[in-house]
Amino acid sequence: MMIVKLGGSALTIKDANEPTVDETNLNRIAEEVSNYNDDMVIVHGAGSFGHILAKKYGIGGKITNAQENLFKIEGLSLTQSSMQLLNYYVVSKLQEKGIPAIGIKPSSFIITENQRITVCDTNIVKRYVNEGFVPVLYGDAVLDLNKDIKFAIISGDQLITYFAKALKADKVILSSDVDGIFTDNPKTNPDAKLIEVVTKDTQLTLTENENQADVTGGMAGKIRELLELADEGIESMIINAEKEGNLKSAVSGKEVKGTIIK
Ligand code: IPE
Repeated sequence: MMIVKLGGSALTIKDANEPTVDETNLNRIAEEVSNYNDDMVIVHGAGSFGHILAKKYGIGGKITNAQENLFKIEGLSLTQSSMQLLNYYVVSKLQEKGIPAIGIKPSSFIITENQRITVCDTNIVKRYVNEGFVPVLYGDAVLDLNKDIKFAIISGDQLITYFAKALKADKVILSSDVDGIFTDNPKTNPDAKLIEVVTKDTQLTLTENENQADVTGGMAGKIRELLELADEGIESMIINAEKEGNLKSAVSGKEVKGTIIK
């Protein structure tokens, strides 16, 4: 059973100031993923469909008065439907490529406590997988048990680690817009080198949020999630989905250049 994360930066135009699908990328990515050869769960990110709203409304931040409460309620409502729309685009494209994709809204069955998943019935997803479907989840805006914040954003990466453990995935593939984890930001530093294997002992010099539009912690947040998974004995790999053929190779069990987290 494999879990594949499709990063929001690959599926959408992340720097756009309104939700915009990257049609060319989405089409190619769906085509490549259709070469999967095992049970599969897909989780996609938000890109411009989630981060802009989540940031504007400060979802996950403390609520100190009634006005803020109303503002956050509006934000939760808008973020959820924006993500649902992206999920619809992704699911429709996957179906077009012959994948029996089924969109599942995380906020309808997940509650967090201080932004970490605590209530989550994985049986539904499991059952769909057993029946031969490909469930498609996504980073979402959810209810939180902490009364001070009430709401939270869960990243696709948090879903990946949660479901990888719950469903005992033997393959976890995370697609990104860079080749993997580098010694520095490869987009700004041409001397940055790819690190092929990352363990909890690897010294990394990542800033917490190098991409200011990313509310879930960018690459540093991703690595934290994946090291937690590695702790449970599940390896994962980060690959560049913008390079043609990479995802296809990864989902069909071939080797791909990237970073393995173990
Ligand atoms: C973020 O999900 C979810 C929302 C902002 C609603 P991700 O953190 O997984 O999204 P990407 O892949 O970085 O865009």
